[in-house]
Order: sequence, then C-alpha cells, then structure tokens
Amino acid sequence: MLPDELLEQLLQLYPCRDVQVRHLAALFSPALPSPPLVVVHGLPCTGKSSVVTFHLDLSRITHAVISSRECITGRHLLERTVSACLDSLEAAGDEIDRRPYARTENLSTLAVNLQKILEERADKFVLVFDGIDGQREAPPTLLPALARFGEMIPNLSIIFITTIPPSPLHKPGVPHLHFPTYNRQELITILAASPPKIFLNPPSEEQYPDYTPDLAAEDDAWLWNRFLTAVWDSLSKHTGRDLVSFRNTSHRLWREFVAPIVDGTFGTRDFSRLMVNRRHLFQTEDAVLDRIISQASNSVPSGTTAPSALSTPRRTQTTLSTPAAKRKTIQHALPYYTTYLLIAAYLASYNPSRTDTTYFMQHSDKRKNKRKVHTHASTCGSARSKHRRIPRHLLTPSPFPLDRLLAIFRSLLDGPVPQVADIYTQIATLASMRLLVRVGGSVGADPLDAGARWRVAFGWEWVRGLGRSVGVEVGEYLVGGVDG
Ligand SMILES: Nc1ncnc2c1ncn2[C@@H]1O[C@H](COP(=O)(O)OP(=O)(O)OP(=O)(O)O)[C@@H](O)[C@H]1O
Ligand SMILES: [Mg+2]
Repeated sequence: MLPDELLEQLLQLYPCRDVQVRHLAALFSPALPSPPLVVVHGLPCTGKSSVVTFHLDLSRITHAVISSRECITGRHLLERTVSACLDSLEAAGDEIDRRPYARTENLSTLAVNLQKILEERADKFVLVFDGIDGQREAPPTLLPALARFGEMIPNLSIIFITTIPPSPLHKPGVPHLHFPTYNRQELITILAASPPKIFLNPPSEEQYPDYTPDLAAEDDAWLWNRFLTAVWDSLSKHTGRDLVSFRNTSHRLWREFVAPIVDGTFGTRDFSRLMVNRRHLFQTEDAVLDRIISQASNSVPSGTTAPSALSTPRRTQTTLSTPAAKRKTIQHALPYYTTYLLIAAYLASYNPSRTDTTYFMQHSDKRKNKRKVHTHASTCGSARSKHRRIPRHLLTPSPFPLDRLLAIFRSLLDGPVPQVADIYTQIATLASMRLLVRVGGSVGADPLDAGARWRVAFGWEWVRGLGRSVGVEVGEYLVGGVDG
C-alpha cells in the first residue's frame, strides 16, 4: 500500500475517486507483487489516465505509458512501446545500449525485445496502454497477445485503459477497475476545488483597505460554487455532461458573468441580481460550442466598419457580431442529405400529393417544375381573384407516407445518393429529434414501417433558411407559393 500521506495527496488532487485510488494502491504497491494484467475502464473524462499515471508516478514504480491516440498504425504502437520502455529505464538511471532494439516488426519481436530489456531487472515494471481499444490498424491478435505479456515476462505488469472493457479479457483472474461517470454533485465538488478569480487586478488598497486576499478568495469560492450550479442546470446538464466540457463551458462564461462585479455595478455577493442581469449567457448555445477559431478573431475588429455599413450609414450601429444579432439566427449546421430530407419532408407535408407530378416529375430541364412565382400584388390585382386563399404554409401540416418523402427527396437532388448516406438511419435520427413526427400507428411498432405516416414538426421560417443553406428556394416548390 502507499504511505498514507501519498494516498491523501492523490485523493486531494482527484476528489471523488477514493475507491479507484485505493484499489490501485492495493494492486500496484512498490513492495508487493502486482497482477500481470489489469483492465481500467470507464467513459471519457472520468480521470482514468490521470489517476493511473499519477498513482504510478507517486509510488515511484518504473512505468511507461503508450497512448494509442498518438500511434497511427499497429506497428507504430509496437515501436513506441519499446522506445517508451527504454526511455523510462534510462530516466530511472539504467544504462542501455539501444542498437539491438532499432526495429520491432511484430508482436513476437516485441515480446523478445521486452524480455531482453527487462531480464536483468529485479523490481517490477508497468506498461500502460492508454486507449488501446481505439488503436488504428491494430492486428486482431494485438489485445490477446499484449494481455499475455505479463504472464510470459517476469516482473512485467500490463494495464489496459479502455472505454469499454474488451470482452475476451472479461474472465476471472483479470482485475477490472471501473471508473464510473461523475454525477452532478461530484462534478460540482471537483470544479469547486479550483475557483477562478473575480478580480484579475485586485481592487486598489487605498479605496478598499478591508478587502484582503483572504476575503477575495472566499468570495471567489462562494460565487464560483453558485455559478457552477447555474451552469450545470441551464446548459451542461443538456449538452456536455462530462467533466471537461462542463469545465470549459464554465470557464468560457465566467469572465462575462463577473463583468458587472468588476466594473462595480454589483457587489460580490449579489448573486440573484447578477443572474437576472446575465441571464442571456445561459440562454444561448455559444458557450457550449467548441471552436478552433476564437470568437474574437472572427468578429469585425473595432474601429473598422463592414463594407455594407458604408453605403447605409444608419446601420453602422448594429455590427453583425453582436450577441443579439447572433441570437436571431435559428439555423443549425446539418449534414447535406439531412437538409434535403427535411426540405422534402416539409414539401410532402404542405403540398397535396396530387400536385407531385407537376412539381417533382423528372424532366430534362429541372427548372420547369418550379412554379411561376405569383406575387401577392399580382394575384390581388387581377379582377378574377374574388376570394383570398390562406397560404399553405400557414395551415397545419398533413401526414405523408415515407415513400412519398423519399420520392420527393430523390427528385430534389441532382445526382444519385451515395450508399454511405444512410437515409433510413437519418430519418430515424430526425424522428428521435422530434423534427419528424410519426402520426398514428401502434406503440412499439417498427418506426420505419412502410405503412407509417409522418408529419413535420418545424415551421416555414426554419425550412426556408435550411433550403437557402443548400441553395434551394423552398417557396418555389410550395403549391400556391409564399408571398414575401
Ligand atoms: N476526480 C478528478 N478530480 C480532478 N480532476 C479530474 C478528476 N477526474 C478527471 N479530472 C480531470 O479531467 C481531465 C480528463 O481526465 P483524463 O484524461 O484522465 O480522463 P480519461 O478518463 O483518461 O479520458 P479519456 O477516456 O478521454 O482518455 C483531466 O484534466 C483531469 O485532470
Ligand atoms: Mg485517457
């Protein structure tokens, strides 16, 4: 077992992992023998890699970590394994001639090389394969062979870190250590341990002589804790439920959240007023979207005006990058064929089926199918139009069968649909997102049953934007047209 102080240190650094840390300490103690193979498994961001490597570091067991994410082929993994072993032995003070280990072509060479490297060592050596289930171009024998290395080579222990435990290794005698996902309380406890500062530059001492660093730290922790709860309940609960996403979202929002405190509008404990004032931060999805390009570099730099603003001076006050302008856009980036599917579903819902031959029958010239655009003015101006018709897009959508949707979908597209665009899966996904709704039918029946009827659950504004994103003017295909 680890000495108590080290165990305490580990538990302080990784709270809510007591059981796992204690198991690891029992399995990998410097003084006692270790099992030849241990499987550590759990969903992403549950602290598997960090806890295992930090434990081995702290307990001073010689070890090498090979991350499968950094190995592009199976052979690459083998070569990395040997060089990582040599590196860690050299770091531990051993002098090794590297020349005999220049090549590691296959698993048997790896076994021989590891045997040679470790044969003169008295103490144990641990090889950690991190993310081995995601190894690219892995030979089928990779996992079973590596799993047996610990039995073949004395003093060697293998740790597999995987997302899902490999089923062939799920047998008695192989210790499995599960890292469960954190729940809400655990996530908040972990993140609350390191609160960021409210004031990057502490307030001047002459003005606020009572505001000591201790008091500031107390305020930081108090506000951060409440802020984390608000972020979880409004955003992270629904989108990024893992520790890393939750941490990123919270840090992205924090500076904007505390801005009124920094400029003196509110005090550090005015949490409720701050929440009301900053509620827009919790209503948009900006903070939960991961971006490679920072938003600051995306927006128009201050001092310069957009070209259109020059011609229309009244608009110079509204720049495109203001959060309010962004919030108005209701478009989402959807895959190409999914977009067409949704457009086809909308047309199938709002057009009567008898007009399909007119609108969607394939001609050599496809544009013939579109309607001649009747504007509101032209219909009202004609003497013959006595009664006004309600535009179709203002009516409720009517149900349509799946084959009609597919027929319209095919006629909207120019080329053939590739095999990889799995249309039925996409329809099932759209149904689970409640964009397409199944009408009637018995509960528990096959959702893609040919006899089932469907309806769309989105409106005209949205589908128009969706169509424009792929260059289709949906109004041109809608019977009766749309004015404005
Ligand atoms: N209990 C904890 N306390 C503090 N930080 C933690 C805890 N668990 C995880 N973390 C942090 O979360 C991040 C992700 O952890 P880590 O990479 O170890 O997860 P993982 O389970 O190996 O994920 P993956 O399966 O994606 O490799 C790290 O920055 C780590 O420090
Ligand atoms: Mg990991």
